[in-house]
Formats: sequence, C-alpha cells, structure tokens
Amino acid sequence: MASRYIAAAALAAGTALTAFSAQAAGNLNLICSADVVICEQMKEGFEKENDIKVNMVRLSSGETYAKIRAESRNPKTDIWWAGTGDPHLQAASENLTLEYKSPMLDQLQDWAKKQAESAGYKTVGVYAGALGWGYNTDIFKAKGFKEPKCWADLLDPAFKGEIQIANPNSSGTAYTALASLVQIMGEDQAYDYLKKLNANISQYTKSGSAPVKAAARGETAIGIVFMHDAVAQTVEGFPIKSIAPCEGTGYEIGSMSIVKGAKNLDNAKIWYDWALKPEVQSRMKDAKSFQLPSNKNAEIPKEAPRFEDIKLIDYDFKTYGDPAKRKELLERWDREISASAN
Ligand code: F6P
Repeated sequence: MASRYIAAAALAAGTALTAFSAQAAGNLNLICSADVVICEQMKEGFEKENDIKVNMVRLSSGETYAKIRAESRNPKTDIWWAGTGDPHLQAASENLTLEYKSPMLDQLQDWAKKQAESAGYKTVGVYAGALGWGYNTDIFKAKGFKEPKCWADLLDPAFKGEIQIANPNSSGTAYTALASLVQIMGEDQAYDYLKKLNANISQYTKSGSAPVKAAARGETAIGIVFMHDAVAQTVEGFPIKSIAPCEGTGYEIGSMSIVKGAKNLDNAKIWYDWALKPEVQSRMKDAKSFQLPSNKNAEIPKEAPRFEDIKLIDYDFKTYGDPAKRKELLERWDREISASAN
C-alpha cells in the first residue's frame, strides 16, 4: 500500500514537473514569410536549441501584413520572421509591431541597422536580395526564344502567356517589382508597362517564388522573382538561368518584427536575438536560401547573387514602405492591371 502511495505521489510530482517545464518553456506563434523549407529549418533549429514550441504558419509578406492588421486588437501572432521589408515598415508605421533593440544589432550590416532605425526599431533586416527573373533554358531552346536581358525585352509578343509573376497584394516580391518599376520608369509609364506585360502573363500567383518554381517544372518559360529564388532552382538541378535586368532593379531587405501585444513576448525576443546570430544565418544556405545575410559574421553563400554584380536602384524604402503609398499603388494595380488580367 505504502509503495503504491509513493509511486502515485512520484507520478503526480512528475506530472507537475512536466506541466511546469512545459509552461516554463512555453510557445511561440510565428509567421514565416520566406520559403517553406527555410521556415521549417528555422523552426526545428530553434526548438532544438531552446525549450520552446514553435507554432509556425507560412504566409506571403502581404498576406501576413493583412493578417496582423486584422488581428491587431487580439494578436494571435508573436513574431513575424522574413518576408520583404516594405510590409514590415508599413506595419511599423501603423504601430502594429513593437520596438525592440536587440543586443545583436551591433553585429549587423548597415542596411539592416538602417532598416531598424528608420522604423524606430519596430523591425530589423535579416537578409537582402535583388529582383530579377529566371527562365527555363530548355523551353527557350525548344521555342527559339531570345534571352530577355532587360525589363523591356519581357514585352516581346513571343512571350505571350509565357511569363508568371505574383500578385502584389499577397506577395512582397511582386510589390517590390511594382515599386521598383515605378522608381525606374515613373508611375504612369510603369503602369503602362505593366498593362503591356499583362498580355504575356499567364498567371499572377499568390507567393513570390511560385513563378520560378513553375518555370523549373516547365509550366512557364519565365518567372519574375528574386534572383536568389531563381538560383535555388538552378542549384536543385533545374534548367533555370537567372537574369539581373539591364535597366536596373530593386531589392528587398527581408525583415523581422515582433507583433505588438504578443502573448509570448519573452519567447519572441529569444527568437529575435537567435535569428540574428551568425551561425543561424550561415545555415540558411542548407535550405537553399541564398539571400545575403544581415549579420556581418555570417557566411555569404557562394551561390548568392552579389549586389556588386547587379545594377541596383537606390530603392526608396521610406516612400514605398509607407502604408498610404502601398494602398495607392495596389488600388491602381487592381483597377488597371488585375481587372484586365486573363
Ligand atoms: O523565397 C524567399 C523569398 O523570396 C524571400 O527572400 C522574400 O522575403 C519572400 O520570399 C517573399 O515572399 P512573398 O513574395 O511570397 O511575400
């Protein structure tokens, strides 16, 4: 009888201990706006090194911004990792995200620190990458297409129905493309260009990298994407060649923000500091994520498209990271481009 009592007491204590440690470790509700493979890798790496369970959802950058906005009175998300910087800046400007100065800030590249400073530390840069496109060399050979080196070349009527790009409402990639074209050409000319390009677009996808994944599978000839997403398909062994447009191109500062009102704030800060570590960023290439890391001590993947090799515009993050500008550009896109899409 006594031994049964002891066993029961030990069991109860054990249960209490487990319950206690589960509570101490806690949870983290994360939205990840990068590719799902790196999202999984980050979740698993974090859970292994920290006794915290990560509930992760993968959503595109524009979708995440919309979700965080919609949930602002009762946030369900603690931290938003990755995705293009503009919607992070827009969220910061609407006070949807929380100021946090990580002790890791000193280790970051100037562009990542600048991103944080400009948003009152309500976001920070985690990686960077330039916009371009990838094309399927097998399809090009079979159809006798000429390599499109410039934005202007994508208007060639030979490419009718052969190009995919994401929808800028959901995708940060496509918003970067829209904002870049406006900066390169001027607003009216950019919409005029997009109207003409529309004749060659077979599909506006939800996620930014989907177009080049479709090109890799031979479902489309060209995908307008971040160059690192095109390179990832080449490294996977698909016949994809990536191009940096001759007129110049925009780029992203992929960012991270803590959601204001986060229920698991301490854990969100643990993730934030962890995700800025050089060893964590150096591992991104294992998931074929070939962006330029924001920590100066992180290894730059040899596959990463280098900014010094690309004609980059001086992307105006202040203007295009503004919520009113976003609304204006997207409303015009819906009216003039989406409405006439196939
Ligand atoms: O696939 C990775 C990536 O291109 C990131 O570099 C970028 O921040 C993110 O995807 C953008 O995704 P989306 O266009 O779906 O918002």
